[in-house]
Amino acid sequence: MALVLENVSKLYGDTVALDRTSFALNCGIYGLLGPNGAGKTTLMRIMTDLLAPSTGRVLLDGQDISALGGEFRKRLGYLPQDFGVYPNFTAEQFLLYIGRLKGLSKFEAKRQTDELLHLVGLEKKQRKKLGSFSGGERQRVGIVQALLGDPDVLILDEPTAGLDPEERIRFRGILSGLSQQRLVLLSTHIVSDLEAVANEIILLKNGVVLKRETPFELLRTLEGAVWTVRVPAGEEAVLTGAYLCSNVMHRDGKSVLRLISGRKPHPDAAPVTPNMEDMYLKYLGKQEI
Ligand SMILES: Nc1ncnc2c1ncn2[C@@H]1O[C@H](COP(=O)(O)OP(=O)(O)OP(=O)(O)O)[C@@H](O)[C@H]1O
Ligand SMILES: [Mg+2]
Repeated sequence: MALVLENVSKLYGDTVALDRTSFALNCGIYGLLGPNGAGKTTLMRIMTDLLAPSTGRVLLDGQDISALGGEFRKRLGYLPQDFGVYPNFTAEQFLLYIGRLKGLSKFEAKRQTDELLHLVGLEKKQRKKLGSFSGGERQRVGIVQALLGDPDVLILDEPTAGLDPEERIRFRGILSGLSQQRLVLLSTHIVSDLEAVANEIILLKNGVVLKRETPFELLRTLEGAVWTVRVPAGEEAVLTGAYLCSNVMHRDGKSVLRLISGRKPHPDAAPVTPNMEDMYLKYLGKQEI
C-alpha cells in the first residue's frame, strides 16, 4: 500500500498552513510531530479527503483519494482532533451507528464494538451516555470509532490528548498490537508517545516537513551535542541565553542545566545521552539560537 502526497499546499487567506509537501507512506506506524499551528491537522484533514488542498493531490495506490470517494473512506479510520460526540447516545449506540455507517452488518458492528470497548477498557461503560464520560473516556471512544471496520489506513489526530499516563501506555500497546499490514499516521506534540511505537517520525514546522527519520536516527543526529552542567544560580541566565536549554533544576543554590550545543558550552559541562525532548527542542523549538 502507498499513500502519496504530491506537492500539497494549503492556504487560508494569507496563512500558508502547508507548503508544497510531498512524501510517500507505506505500511507501518508514522508519527507526525510538530508544535501548535505547524499544520498537522490541516495535513491530516487533506489526507482524509475532508479538506481540499490548494495545490497538489493525495494518491492511494496511484489513485486520487478524492476520485476514490467512498471506496477510500471504507478503508479509512479517522480520529479528528476535536472529536465531538452525541451526548445522549450511549457508547454502544454511538459505535453501532458509526459501524453501520462504515458498512458493517448489525452483527459485525456489535461484535467489533464489544471487542474494541474491551480493548480500551470501557466495557463497563458500554451502556452509559457519552455526555457523562470524562475527557479521556470520550477520547477512547474516539479511538474505538476510528478502529471500527478494521481500516487499513488509520489517521489519528492527537489520539493521546487527555489520556492519563496509564491510558497512554495502554494506547501504545493497542498501536503496537495492530497488524503491520496497515498504515497508521498519528499526530502529537508529546514525544514520548512516539519513541516506542513509531517506525518513522515526520517533523513538521510552519507547514514544512523538516525531517523524516526513525526515532533512532533522529536521536543519533544529537549524539555529542547534549550536555549537563552545574553552575552557581547567578550564571544560569548567561548559559540559557546562549544555548538551547532542555531542562533546568535548582539544587542547593546551584542550577543544573541540560544544554544542546555542537561544542562544549562550559568548561565543566559533561556530555549526556540525547533524548527525544532534546530532539524536539532542537528541531521544533521556538527559540532560534
Ligand atoms: N479554518 C482555518 N482558517 C484559517 N486559518 C486556519 C484554519 N485552520 C488552521 N488555520 C491556520 O493554519 C495553521 C495550521 O493549523 P493546524 O490546525 O493545521 O495546526 P496543528 O499543527 O494541527 O496545531 P495544533 O497542535 O494546535 O493542533 C495555523 O496557523 C492555523 O492558525
Ligand atoms: Mg491540530
